[in-house]
Amino acid sequence: RPLLDPVPPLPALWASVGFSIFAFVAALYLVPALGPTFVKANLKGKDLLKVYSDPIPESQGLVCASIYILLLILFIPFPFSTSIASLSGGGSKIEGLLGAASLHHELSVYLSSLLSLLMATVLGFLDDVFDIRWRHKLPIPLIAAIPLLMVYYAEGGNTHVVVPIPLRPFLGLVVNLGPLYYLYMSLLSTFTTNSINILAGINGSEVSQALIIAISVIINDLLYMPWPFDFRIPMHLLGNQIEVEIGGAWQAGMAYGSSELVDRHLFSLYFMLPLVGVCLGFMYHNWYPARAFPGDTLCYATGMAFSVVGIQAHFSKTLLLFFIPQIFNFLLSCPQLFGIVPCPRHRVPRFVADTNLLHPSKAVFDKRPPTRLASLTLHIFATLGFTELTVDPTNEVVLEATNLTILNFFLLRLGPMNEKKLVQVLMCTQIAGSVLAFTIRYGLAGLVYDG
Ligand code: UD1
Ligand code: MG
Repeated sequence: RPLLDPVPPLPALWASVGFSIFAFVAALYLVPALGPTFVKANLKGKDLLKVYSDPIPESQGLVCASIYILLLILFIPFPFSTSIASLSGGGSKIEGLLGAASLHHELSVYLSSLLSLLMATVLGFLDDVFDIRWRHKLPIPLIAAIPLLMVYYAEGGNTHVVVPIPLRPFLGLVVNLGPLYYLYMSLLSTFTTNSINILAGINGSEVSQALIIAISVIINDLLYMPWPFDFRIPMHLLGNQIEVEIGGAWQAGMAYGSSELVDRHLFSLYFMLPLVGVCLGFMYHNWYPARAFPGDTLCYATGMAFSVVGIQAHFSKTLLLFFIPQIFNFLLSCPQLFGIVPCPRHRVPRFVADTNLLHPSKAVFDKRPPTRLASLTLHIFATLGFTELTVDPTNEVVLEATNLTILNFFLLRLGPMNEKKLVQVLMCTQIAGSVLAFTIRYGLAGLVYDG
C-alpha cells in the first residue's frame, strides 16, 4: 500500500475556505444588526468593568453558533460529492456497496458532530436565559457527547494508548483503557465547554481563546496534508504516533501520510475553518470596549466544536495540549468550584474607575471562617504565588483571598493593568501555550515515545 494514496478532495477544502470568509462577513454584519433585538428580548448585560451602564447585547454567541452550524449544514454536499459521484459511476456491485458503506460512515461522523454542536448551543443558550447552577449543567455535555462516542465505537475506535518508554517495564507497550477511554472522551467535552466559560469576564477573553485554539488546531491539521513539496521529511522524523492505531487499517510506522489520516484532519479543517471565520467577525464587536457579549452560548458551542474534532479526528490528547491556560485556570479554580473557598457570582477583576486599571478581586470569608482544608489550600497557593491572603493578625485566620483565576493571577504577578492589556496578556499566554504544545507533541514526545 503506497504511503500517499488518493489525494483528498481538495476542492472541498477550498469551498470550506470560502465558507469561512462568508462566516466572517456574516458575523461581522449580523452581530451588530441583531444587537437591538437581543436587548429587546432582555438578553443584555452590564459591562462590569466600565463606568457606564448601558445595556450590552448578551449571548450573541447564538448568532455566531447559528451562522456556524447553518454553514456546516450547507457544506455537507461538498466533501461527499466525490464519493457520491463514484457511487453512481459504474463499478462492480461490491465496489458500490463498499462505497456506500464508507459514505454512510463519513456522513454519520459528520451528522453526529452536528448533533453534539447543536446540543451544546441549546445548553449554552438555556444557561444564558436561566442561569443554570453549574452543578446542574455539568452533566449535560456528557450526554451531548454520546452521539460522538457511539460513532467512535461503531468504527471500532481505538481505546489503546501507547505507554511512555519509562513505564513500559510495568505496563508493556500498549494498554487498553476500554470503557475508561470513553469516560475520558466524555469528560473531555465537559472540560472544553466549561473551561472557556470560566476563563471569562473581560472583553474579548472568551472569543480570543476560541480563536487561538482553533488556529492551533488548523496548523496541526495542515501538518498532515499531502503538500506538493517535501515537507513530510521532518514530520516523518518526528512523527511519533502517540495516538497510534493498533490493529486498525494502518500501523504506527505507516500512519503518517496514509489517506485515512489525511481524511481525518480534513474533517477537522472543515469544522475549524468556519469557526475561525465567525470568531474573527465576532471579535471585532467584542473587542475592548465591547459592544456585544458572547454569553455562555459561544463558550459552549466553540468548546464542543473542539471536542468534536478532537474525538472524531482522533487527536484528543494533542487537543488538550492546546488548553494549557484553561487547564491551569481550572486547577486554580478547583477550591472555589468545589466550595472549599467561597465563590462569588462574579470572579472578574476589580475595576478602579479613577485609574481605569484592574486589580485582583477577592473572595471573602464573611459567612463562616475557613475550614482547615481551605486554610491549607490557600496557604499552599499563596506560597506558590497564585493568590494573596489577608489574615487576621491576632489569630492568623484567613479573612480574604484573591479570587483563584488566571486573570487575577496575572494581575497579582504583573501588577494592575487596564482591561485591553489584560486580554492581550491572556492572548499571548494562549499563543505561548500552543507553541509549548507543538514542542511537546512533536519534539519532546520523542523522549518518551519512540518514533
Ligand atoms: C463565569 C465565571 C464568573 C465570571 C463570569 C464572567 C466562574 C465559576 N464563573 O460565570 O466568575 O464573572 O463568567 O463572564 O469562574 N461580563 C463583562 N465583561 C465581559 C464579559 C462578561 O462584564 O467582557 C459580565 C457581564 O455582566 C455579563 C456577564 O459577565 O452579563 C456574563 O456572565 P455569565 O457568562 O453569565 O457568567 P458565568 O459563565 O456563569
Ligand atoms: Mg459565561
